[in-house]
Amino acid sequence: VRHELAASASAAARPAVLRRVRDRLASAGIHRPRLARGERTETPFDAPSIRTARLLLRPHRMPDAAEWFALQSEPAVREFLPWPERDARSSARHLRDRTRHTRLWQADDFLALAVEKDGHLIGDVSLHLRTVAAASRSVEIGWVLHPSFSGHGYATEATEALLAFAYDVVGARWVTAVTDARNAASLALARRLGFVEVRSDGADLVLMRPRGTAVATR
Ligand SMILES: CC(C)(COP(=O)(O)OP(=O)(O)OC[C@H]1O[C@@H](n2cnc3c(N)ncnc32)[C@H](O)[C@@H]1OP(=O)(O)O)[C@@H](O)C(=O)NCCC(=O)NCCS
Repeated sequence: VRHELAASASAAARPAVLRRVRDRLASAGIHRPRLARGERTETPFDAPSIRTARLLLRPHRMPDAAEWFALQSEPAVREFLPWPERDARSSARHLRDRTRHTRLWQADDFLALAVEKDGHLIGDVSLHLRTVAAASRSVEIGWVLHPSFSGHGYATEATEALLAFAYDVVGARWVTAVTDARNAASLALARRLGFVEVRSDGADLVLMRPRGTAVATR
């Protein structure tokens, strides 16, 4: 585990500023050209639909535009995310981008899933493919939940399901998470799921979770 921690720390060791710039560009639909992104995974990994005890994780779709806008309009949601305040129109454009984020194949590919409860969108979980090589494959995970639904373990449940996909299907050796050090709810979620802090990166903490980490989530 110590060896994996050291390796993951270097895999995740990208300067915060570069990572933020790249993620903001990607969030605006501007990506590095595929040719510049090097090797590919052995097969592409397409966005799954996953049922958990209480939730459905599935690709985003445009009929959720009103609920996506409501989620994005929550100041508590945007506080620690690089999401600007959006009006309904630009929120719909952002959702349209997300409907296309359905495949991991090359470095920095992004896959996002809607978290649905009883037919309504209540959040989002996502994966960035960071390191492609099978022996050191890593993905960075993200999570967002509408505050009206917090406190019931939904984000934990959705993230746990996406972690299983990351390890068992994508073949990740470790999963990283990056969160603002002041984001107590996000850190609690990460620790609940067995992530450990590997280093700080400006205002952010980089956490990782090797394959095979046992969790006692409840
Ligand atoms: C980070 C975020 C997803 C955490 O949401 P959350 O509601 O705290 O997380 P969960 O849905 O897993 O709920 C956990 C809470 O439910 C409780 N809970 C109840 N039933 C539970 C169950 N079956 N399993 C786990 N926890 C359960 C836990 O004890 C915990 O309560 P506590 O906060 O009082 O300790 C949410 O705050 C958020 O979306 N923030 C904005 C976006 C963001 O910052 N994302 C991260 C960017 S890095």
